[in-house]
Amino acid sequence: MFGVFSVSLGVLIAFTLAIVVIYFYLRDVTQKKHAILRNFPLVGHLRYFFEQLGEYFRQYFFLGDRAERPFNRATRSWVYRLAKNEGGILGFGSTYDLHEPGALIFVNAPFAVLESDRLPTPPLAMGEGWCEKPFVTRSLINISGMSFGAISEPAVRALSLGAAKAGCWIDTGEGGLSPYHLEGGCDVIMQIGTAKYGVRDEQGRLSTEKLRDIAARENVRAFEIKLSQGAKPGKGGVLMGVKVTPEIARIRGIPVGEDSLSPNRHPDIANINELLDMIIRVRDITGKPVGIKTALGGWEFMHQLTEAIARRGLSDAPDFIAIDGGEGGSGAAPQALADHMGLSITEALPRAVDALLEAGIKERIKVIAAGQLINPARAAWALACGADYVNTARGFMFALGCIQALRCHTNTCPTGITTHNPKLQRGLVVEEKFERVANYCLNMNKEIDMIAHSCGLHHAREFRREHVRVARADGNTIALNLLYPYPTLRSV
Ligand SMILES: Cc1cc2nc3c(=O)[nH]c(=O)nc-3n(C[C@H](O)[C@H](O)[C@H](O)COP(=O)(O)O)c2cc1C
Repeated sequence: MFGVFSVSLGVLIAFTLAIVVIYFYLRDVTQKKHAILRNFPLVGHLRYFFEQLGEYFRQYFFLGDRAERPFNRATRSWVYRLAKNEGGILGFGSTYDLHEPGALIFVNAPFAVLESDRLPTPPLAMGEGWCEKPFVTRSLINISGMSFGAISEPAVRALSLGAAKAGCWIDTGEGGLSPYHLEGGCDVIMQIGTAKYGVRDEQGRLSTEKLRDIAARENVRAFEIKLSQGAKPGKGGVLMGVKVTPEIARIRGIPVGEDSLSPNRHPDIANINELLDMIIRVRDITGKPVGIKTALGGWEFMHQLTEAIARRGLSDAPDFIAIDGGEGGSGAAPQALADHMGLSITEALPRAVDALLEAGIKERIKVIAAGQLINPARAAWALACGADYVNTARGFMFALGCIQALRCHTNTCPTGITTHNPKLQRGLVVEEKFERVANYCLNMNKEIDMIAHSCGLHHAREFRREHVRVARADGNTIALNLLYPYPTLRSV
């Protein structure tokens, strides 16, 4: 009796399977979208499956330590170790290729600075003498703009708590100020994006009342008018509808579930004079330093800016300029712009600094640099070029546990950083990850100082271009101050 039952169950299963196979076979051969499936029904699915898996196989098994992009495994592991407080220590020797074009080599001093003679990094003020409440800050490394929307609630909370512990600032990105940015009590730079999320009136124009309300919060130390970001100059913020939750919609002042696309330019800023007018307006309303964030395509913008400041006076200048390299990241960017638009920070930063030096206004306008400056050596290079501070977004994402799955725009981030799916956010434990954020920041500052001491400097603000050499195509190196000579002061 039992035998007959099991035979008929087996027949039933086989019959069902056959029906399923025939159904999918017919579906594949008759569909018109995928050539492979029309020609190779059923087995053609394996291609798509392996294509997806290939990404992970390559990452884990086949790619060398220095092979991946945007960040190779050696760099990511360095950040993970800094974040876990495991020290940036290697055994046996480095796999860094000193001869590869662009390799950075710092000029070691014959007599390094004695430990007893080392000095802490001095604090630096933005807007001192030019606004009511200048922003005095010490950390060389800070959290670059990532909007609440592009990144999740637990991610913003962990960043805010970590920034408070480490003493660095968090930039809100263009999605407005959320309670999560304020949770840790850290310094906050409020970004004003092209849609003016968080400070917009009904018509999408800058609202004086909202700006004043936000400026009244003590922790909000400065405002940043975003002209562009390196990953997508000329394109506004893009937040896919799947990521526009009711809370994000409320903070931004937009409909739930619809794509959030900000204008590709501030509608009210079409030239340098309008930019400077806006800077003055925001500074007058808030009493706090106001800067700009931009990618550079050439030198014209910087020259026009310095000329306008020379004409109008130093009181009309931005208090800081954040230069974002073309290699910068984004929650979502069109490939055409991500791959091909905007100069790399390697070229943009020294040239931007030169324009300010030439005009004699480098002291007045602080420079913030970003663009894959996620390890101590790259950050020290930026300081040597003339940056006053370094920002990083993805360095802090790695500190939060990012595995570079490259899915920030899909709401399926496996580590909970760029998704609003609560099941995936569960993996990001704020109480654990905020410590890593703080460790990463503190260890970055410490290792930058370590490089400075080896160069014979008392602290990292003493870096100059002559402290770095850069490998050229022939494998020999050239001093950074010969590659980018310091300009002479333009006579005024
Ligand atoms: C997920 C994500 C979201 C971002 N959101 C913003 C934003 O809202 N506003 C902005 O100016 N830049 C944004 N950026 C760019 C970063 O602030 C930064 O300028 C750029 O990624 C370069 O730094 P990095 O190479 O250290 O990541 C975002 C970047 C990422 C990865």
